[in-house]
Amino acid sequence: MSTLETILSDATSTLAAVQTMPELEQVKAKYLGKSGSLTEQLKALGAMSPEAKKIAGAAINQVKIHVESLISEAKSRIAKAELEAKLAEESIDVTMPGRTAGVGGLHPVTRALERIEALFSTMGFAVADGPEIETDYHCFTALNTPPNHPARSMQDTFYIADSDHVLRPHTSPVQIRYMEEHKPPIRIICPGRVYRCDHDATHSPMFHQIEGLWIDEGISLADLKGTLTQFFRSFFERDNMQIRFRPSFFPFVEPGVEVDMEWENKGGKIKWLEIGGAGVVHPQVLRNGGIDPEKYSGFAFGMGLDRLAMLKYGVNDLRLFFENDIKFLGQFR
Ligand code: PHE
Repeated sequence: MSTLETILSDATSTLAAVQTMPELEQVKAKYLGKSGSLTEQLKALGAMSPEAKKIAGAAINQVKIHVESLISEAKSRIAKAELEAKLAEESIDVTMPGRTAGVGGLHPVTRALERIEALFSTMGFAVADGPEIETDYHCFTALNTPPNHPARSMQDTFYIADSDHVLRPHTSPVQIRYMEEHKPPIRIICPGRVYRCDHDATHSPMFHQIEGLWIDEGISLADLKGTLTQFFRSFFERDNMQIRFRPSFFPFVEPGVEVDMEWENKGGKIKWLEIGGAGVVHPQVLRNGGIDPEKYSGFAFGMGLDRLAMLKYGVNDLRLFFENDIKFLGQFR
């Protein structure tokens, strides 16, 4: 075989096997590059006689044209294969479920609150609101807890330096704010955030309470018991659920009680859970709110909203409510 024939047959088989563009570039250089084998052949023409040059030159050119066409064939074959591979890789599985916008849901504490508001509203309670950064006067003094009163140490309050404001440690100041603006009959609940320096599995520095206040002529502890019993039975959907009062002390009620609800009743053996404080509004508190205690009386209660939500939904760690873990919150959709 002549050198040219060898080059052509070699190029034909090499180009038929080439798979990628970089490989193709290399093969192209091998024949047509600066020191490619065909280029070398052309260089050699210079040393020939004009006659021989003519014949040899024509033969080389013919092979060169052939090789070039083999290269462009290989090029389009590789480009086609690359495109097909890319399309296969990017192909869309139309049977896959679509991506929808995620459905949100209400926070379990908000859910519990909406339920509580609905239940109390069926008993004629309106919903009232008050500031979370509250005056010392509304949080304590007006609630019959003057400065230096030992009961102030019952609450680990966040005081604000050089100010007579605190982060309210309970929702009871809303009692005073409401009395300042409204005359009896008063029948409200006031849900909201409260703050205490406390942090463990059952205490968080921020948590939620629901205050209740009912003031009218002749309201007594019996009305408190009836109202709360009705509420707990509806909230937990348990018809015979009992609540009990234990004597307790809060400066703004007299008498004051701790409220327990029946949680488990195994053959008369009852497991009680403490759920809040309550009592008959102290006459001095009524006076501080501009209400005549000779004419009116009332009851007040304060319950832990987060505690109620935990019991209702079977959550065992209060902190889960405030960590914003989507895996936890997603269970309440
Ligand atoms: N404010 C009290 C507390 O946070 C609870 C309470 C409210 C007690 C109303 C009596 C009456 O501990």
